[in-house]
Amino acid sequence: MRRTMFVASGILLFGILYPKSNFTQEKAGSAEPKMTPEDAAKKNPVQPSPEGLAEARKLYGYDCAMCHGKDGSGKGDLAQDMKLELHDWRDPASIEKMTDGELFWVVSYGRGKMVGGEADRSPEKVRWKLVNLVRSFGKKAAASADKPKTESPQP
Ligand code: HEC
Repeated sequence: MRRTMFVASGILLFGILYPKSNFTQEKAGSAEPKMTPEDAAKKNPVQPSPEGLAEARKLYGYDCAMCHGKDGSGKGDLAQDMKLELHDWRDPASIEKMTDGELFWVVSYGRGKMVGGEADRSPEKVRWKLVNLVRSFGKKAAASADKPKTESPQP
């Protein structure tokens, strides 16, 4: 009986100390999930909205900006340290050939040097909001680029 208690509390303690370790290790160790054509063809069910973008931006600040940069430039500190060549999302053309489904998949599972993703942390809806946010970096840049800068020429 004492032994069972001991083992049981050990398991409990392990669960407290390493809540997600089993899951993460399994994913990193064994075969990476593969993106299927169906994944890439998925349509974004979440319309971009100021609230959705704000929610995604918060999460992005914690989990993504260290690599992709606060502004989506791909020049976050960690990316620089790891010498990653990331897309500059401020240029919409950088990811224009990728479908929302594809972006969603990478956000969910990572790819290459982007190890892991949000799949085990955030619900699907939030991940789609992150896709909207990623796209929005380019839209903002495009919007300001469209504005004629010479409207009121500065002396
Ligand atoms: C360790 C640095 C790192 C972190 C943290 C990171 N990424 Fe990435 N991300 C990458 C790399 C590297 C790629 C390119 C992967 C490839 O295709 O080889 C990438 C690719 C992507 C892509 C596909 C589009 C593209 O430009 O290739 C999306 C979308 C993306 N990341 C979103 C996110 C989001 C959202 C987060 C936070 C939840 C995040 N990333 C966190 C490194 C990172």
